[in-house]
Amino acid sequence: MALVKYILEDSSEVTIEAQVGQNLMQLAIENNVEGIEGACGGSCMCATCHVKVESVNGAELGERSEMELDVLEMEIDEVASNSRLGCQIEINEKIESITVRIESIQSI
Ligand code: FES
Repeated sequence: MALVKYILEDSSEVTIEAQVGQNLMQLAIENNVEGIEGACGGSCMCATCHVKVESVNGAELGERSEMELDVLEMEIDEVASNSRLGCQIEINEKIESITVRIESIQSI
């Protein structure tokens, strides 16, 4: 179990308990977190699950895959070093908590 804190676009915060194996897009959708659409269903194709990772406790996140980076660069005007696709961040046993800022884009 890990605690995931989402910082919404109005700067309010929502913290949700996540189970190992869940990804940050699924978790947001299941809990009606505003600003994460997940239009492609987690296939790494839309970037409507874009978040910026503010902090992680307990483990390092892996590097972005080439495909994830390609999608971010296609869909986001300014890709930051902490820009990630929420669907590509899966909770593992080591992650204790993670904080992400939602910077949504809309699907067309
Ligand atoms: S849900 Fe489409 S890229 Fe993450």
